[in-house]
Amino acid sequence: MKTLKVKDIKGNLNEEVKLCGWVRNYRKASSKLRFVIFRDGSGELQCVAFKPDMGEENFEKVKQLTIETSLEIIGIPRKHPKFDDKFEFHLKDINIINSAIDYPIGKKEHGPDFLLSQRHLWLRSRKQNAIMKIRHTVYFAICEYLNNNGFYRFDSPILTPNASEGTTTLFKVPYFDLGSAFLSQSGQLYLEAGIMSLGRVYDFGPVFRAEKSKTRKHLTEFWMMDAEAAFVEYEENMQIQEELIRFVICTVIEKNKLELELLERDVEKLKKADSPFVRMTHKEVIDLLKSKGVDIDYNDDFGAPEEEKITENSDVPIFVEKWPKEIKSFYMKRDPENPDLVLGADLIAPEEFGEIIGGSQREDNYDILHNRIKSEGYDLKDYQWFLDLRKYGSVPHSGFGVGFERLVQWMSGIRHIREVIPFPRMINRINP
Ligand code: 4AD
Ligand code: MG
Repeated sequence: MKTLKVKDIKGNLNEEVKLCGWVRNYRKASSKLRFVIFRDGSGELQCVAFKPDMGEENFEKVKQLTIETSLEIIGIPRKHPKFDDKFEFHLKDINIINSAIDYPIGKKEHGPDFLLSQRHLWLRSRKQNAIMKIRHTVYFAICEYLNNNGFYRFDSPILTPNASEGTTTLFKVPYFDLGSAFLSQSGQLYLEAGIMSLGRVYDFGPVFRAEKSKTRKHLTEFWMMDAEAAFVEYEENMQIQEELIRFVICTVIEKNKLELELLERDVEKLKKADSPFVRMTHKEVIDLLKSKGVDIDYNDDFGAPEEEKITENSDVPIFVEKWPKEIKSFYMKRDPENPDLVLGADLIAPEEFGEIIGGSQREDNYDILHNRIKSEGYDLKDYQWFLDLRKYGSVPHSGFGVGFERLVQWMSGIRHIREVIPFPRMINRINP
């Protein structure tokens, strides 16, 4: 007898097979008939337990089933009598592997706090399962695009001596006789070393920020994909980002129809976002915000409410370009047309999903960068290696970092970031 996955049922109809998984739910129709919704990770299957077909003894076992009990099912998959693309599994026998008694997540509505404390179990729900599948698609779509466009994977370290995104969100950890180290905020600085060997590189892994903000878009541990490319300047950097994001959108629409439907994601909105992205300078955005009555200044950064206003009438993401140097990181290159600005752009997603990418052309001049590091108050000895890159064969280069969970949020239409990572880490939560 073959052991199958639900997703492979279609090609194995009308023969006796076995599947392994869990009970999603069950329903008693009569004293002789029960329905069991079976799931195995690859999909769900409605099982029909009919006493005359199964025999008294096997039917008794079905009566023992509870929600989330793990089991093997043996029987015959058949076409659904009413729906062409659905299947039914006619049970002959089952083997209970482990009975789940009083599964804590029920059919009634639970609050987010309770669900988060049960995250290890909550992940089994239909909705969470769908989100994790979309996360999987987005991850591999990003890798596919980069692999096909000349980027080598280049893993950056997590324990680092230096800050890339300011010192206020650093996590400090004791580090033997050397004092302390920091958890990486972004692998970017290391990628800048990587490109001088490989030309184009990317990393993809967890980064850490001691964000004190409790918002629906912030985690203290999140995943970032940093990409970096030699001989790529400001303009081309944005073109790469746009192509990458549009590739991700198309891939998710193609591969996750079922999941998007289950999540009630408005796919038309995603389709509309697959069009040329809009560009606005930081100054234009401030003017726009002012015209909408926002109290904001030309040297201000944006919070979530401003980001939402920026894209409220746009179907596509907006690049906010050319920021005042004071509010951006030390490594960004100055705009040759206006030394008060930097050649950096943030990509803001529509539908209130906010900033999904931060990127820029990098400062490639030794002296300018040296002075920037000094004026930030950083210890030069920690950055000497980074400055070396401007000393031995420096080249124009650019890169960007995708906030992976923010992108998954947008693709799946999930309001809160805590649902798009298996085990969210937030200021007030480290468990489970
Ligand atoms: O804009 P950020 O800070 O850029 C960098 O770290 C650059 N070094 C990247 C680079 O050029 N290689 O972060 C990149 C993205 C943001 O646009 C945002 O989407 C996401 O990371 N992000 C967060 N996501 C979840 N929780 C947080 N606390 C985040 N902080 C930033
Ligand atoms: Mg940013």
